[in-house]
Amino acid sequence: MPMKIPHPIPYQGSKRNLAKHILPHFPKIIDTLIEPFAGSSAISIASAHKAKTGKYCINDINKALMSLWTRIINTPYEIASIYEKLWHEQLGNRREYYDFIRDEFNKTHNPDYLLYLLARCVKASVRYNAQGEFNQSPDNRRKGKHPRTMRKDILAVSALLWGKTQIHNLDYKEILSMAKRDDLIYMDPPYQGVCATGEPRYYSGIDFNEFLEELEKLNLRGISFILSYDGKSGKKTYGVELPKELGMKKMEINAGRSSQATLLGRDDVTFESIYLSRSLLQKLENPSIAPQVYVRSYQPVQPSLL
Ligand SMILES: C[S@@+](CC[C@H](N)C(=O)[O-])C[C@H]1O[C@@H](n2cnc3c(N)ncnc32)[C@H](O)[C@@H]1O
Repeated sequence: MPMKIPHPIPYQGSKRNLAKHILPHFPKIIDTLIEPFAGSSAISIASAHKAKTGKYCINDINKALMSLWTRIINTPYEIASIYEKLWHEQLGNRREYYDFIRDEFNKTHNPDYLLYLLARCVKASVRYNAQGEFNQSPDNRRKGKHPRTMRKDILAVSALLWGKTQIHNLDYKEILSMAKRDDLIYMDPPYQGVCATGEPRYYSGIDFNEFLEELEKLNLRGISFILSYDGKSGKKTYGVELPKELGMKKMEINAGRSSQATLLGRDDVTFESIYLSRSLLQKLENPSIAPQVYVRSYQPVQPSLL
């Protein structure tokens, strides 16, 4: 039986189940795989598991999350033991204990507490209030991942990424500016629409026009990227259509039945889109030729048309 891919950080929107559809679009040679919107870093973990490259760069705007990644990769035994301690301490008093750890996290920003909160909170969904405090409620039906399984996942991920991974806490634009032509960028930005309506599902939203400008800059520099962007579930679509001028190839991945639809007794299958960049398409067609750079083709979209 193939070894299970470890996944220590529970994270809503994780691409762990889609990794098997995304990795086959990787070029043969990758210097560094870059995840500017890493979250639970599902694609980097899956790539390391399949030995797709030897260098990784993970980044997220959420500082405590990236401190958690530093702990998991560099001091795995220590954080696994702390998780075990917190998990046992909660037994018999789970609701109050969760509130206590949430308060401690908001005072100290200690990433060890964030791991416990993510394992216990509703839908593993990161929510902050306007003051920047973590305010997600606990899922009172669950105790959180068992410490034995958590330890296994933490040690396995550390073994995959230790000594090979740069960890950053920057805005994605700074990370994109560091990319080189032999690198591959995998981007999974916060959903368009969700943040625009003010729902704080992720730590921060991004400006749509600015994001399109960044994609165009990557094209002009001949950088390869894969972008997860929009999708559809039943009749509902999410995400704004991306301009054809960016020259990307859109592919739809069957992501299976959404848990929401199953709960409602419906049969809706979710399709998630990925976009392959121009330079990547060129590399896949002809791996021996260096990708071209392109002349500017894309004009920013008027905000009124979004
Ligand atoms: C859809 S989630 C990524 C999920 C990830 N692919 C996974 O498998 O877990 C989007 C992430 O982007 C991060 N983010 C939001 N705005 C950002 C920015 N300006 N720069 C970098 N990261 C950002 C959020 O904190 C969130 O973790």
